[in-house]
Amino acid sequence: MAAKEALTLQEVAKHNTKDDCWLIIAGKVYDVTKFLNDHPGGDDVLLSSTAKDATDDFEDVGHSTTARAMLDEYYVGDVDALTIPANSKYTPPKQPHYNQDKTPEFIIKILQFLVPLVILGLAVAVRMYTKSESA
Ligand code: HEM
Repeated sequence: MAAKEALTLQEVAKHNTKDDCWLIIAGKVYDVTKFLNDHPGGDDVLLSSTAKDATDDFEDVGHSTTARAMLDEYYVGDVDALTIPANSKYTPPKQPHYNQDKTPEFIIKILQFLVPLVILGLAVAVRMYTKSESA
């Protein structure tokens, strides 16, 4: 059977039993029902790879070219990629963007340096002012 329209994940997901088992590998749908008992990796792994994109499961095993060549035999159609949820990519935990210029500690350090300077500057200014007045 060659599907004219792409199958949705929901449609493929219905075929998840020992008597009716479909897999999605690399955007293609395979009816592996007849292969379940012959699969060297066992039928349970195939069944647990139903109702989802099984590409990673298939690739992780490192299947041989012989295994890949067997796929054609079970091909029933393509899957509508839009119906497959995007891979949950690893997103690193959000850390506060450490921008040194903006941290309060940095501002305090600047002030610790600037305030005495300002006081010193004022003192010098006052001193000069009073000196020139008295002279
Ligand atoms: C239509 C799809 C699949 C075909 C045609 C297929 C075919 C094969 C073949 C021929 C082997 C023997 C080793 C080799 O030649 O690479 C094998 C082994 C294996 N397969 Fe698959 N496979 C399919 C899908 C899967 C999936 C979805 C899984 C999920 C995890 C899986 C898991 C395994 C495991 C674990 C082995 C290793 C068995 C062992 O060496 O003990 N296979 N498969």
